[in-house]
Amino acid sequence: MAYSLLLDCDPGLDDALALLLAHGDPDIQLVGVTTVGGNVGLAHTTRNALQLREYLGFPEVPVAAGASQPLTREAVNAAHVHGEGGLGNVTLPEATLPLSEQHAADFIIETLRASPGAVHLVATGPLTNIAIALEREPAIARWAASFTIMGGSYTRGNATPAAEFNILADPEAAKIVFDADWQVVMIGLDLTLQAQANSIVVDRLKALGALADELIVPLATFYFNPKVPDWDGQAVHDVCAVAYVARPDLFSMRPARVDIETRGEFTTGMTVVDFDPLVPNALIATKIDVNGFWAYVESVYAKVAAART
Ligand code: RIB
Ligand code: CA
Repeated sequence: MAYSLLLDCDPGLDDALALLLAHGDPDIQLVGVTTVGGNVGLAHTTRNALQLREYLGFPEVPVAAGASQPLTREAVNAAHVHGEGGLGNVTLPEATLPLSEQHAADFIIETLRASPGAVHLVATGPLTNIAIALEREPAIARWAASFTIMGGSYTRGNATPAAEFNILADPEAAKIVFDADWQVVMIGLDLTLQAQANSIVVDRLKALGALADELIVPLATFYFNPKVPDWDGQAVHDVCAVAYVARPDLFSMRPARVDIETRGEFTTGMTVVDFDPLVPNALIATKIDVNGFWAYVESVYAKVAAART
């Protein structure tokens, strides 16, 4: 079965690995990439997306830039995690192909309008572009075949004890998104931290040759510190969100009501998850088949690597 997928992202180490999966899976037709400020500023996330497009070889896929700032708050970033440029110590050739003239939100609206019910929308950064698109055209909530995010947590955060980075970066946008007329598939930290790229996985990835040396392994290990006790490897958070669209069989899910805290002194950006809701608005990923996930991801990456030799 082929899936059309539009990825809104803030590349970003794991966003780049997610883009590689979306590009490499023959069952996924990547129909667009939109960028948002998040891990690093919009100029960098957009430059990274443009460079990845040419380095990986999907020149026909439009890239459209979106919001550089959250809806109302001051921008935060995660350069301390992803590096100042956003791709760790990976350097890619300068892009030569143009950025779309459209704003990301308008690109999302027009792409979904043109193929109602056919395009799976995935967001792996702050939800600002999605919120802007919903405010400009609420019907996208009906037009999207599905809507999956990497974000949130029903236990602890990573940016604060309560909040995961993508939600904390723009809580007002997240509130708009979770309150819209669709079901949000939430791939949160509780899920993504189950499938870290441990040393066994990294050793297998290293066997993929130049693509692994130049891109995959540096992205998947940039901030991992083996000296930290009880830390197996770097999470590939955003890869899990794309994997869900193509391989939902690898995931256990529970319906829930998710509300976003936007005022708490210590809890702003928290996804408050009620697993016994009157009216669910989300599907929460609770468990992943870790071996199945890595077998899938590695098989797709191997296909891309083989095609480059
Ligand atoms: O908390 C993890 C999320 O924040 C991932 O999407 C990562 O890329 C960062 O954006
Ligand atoms: Ca991201």
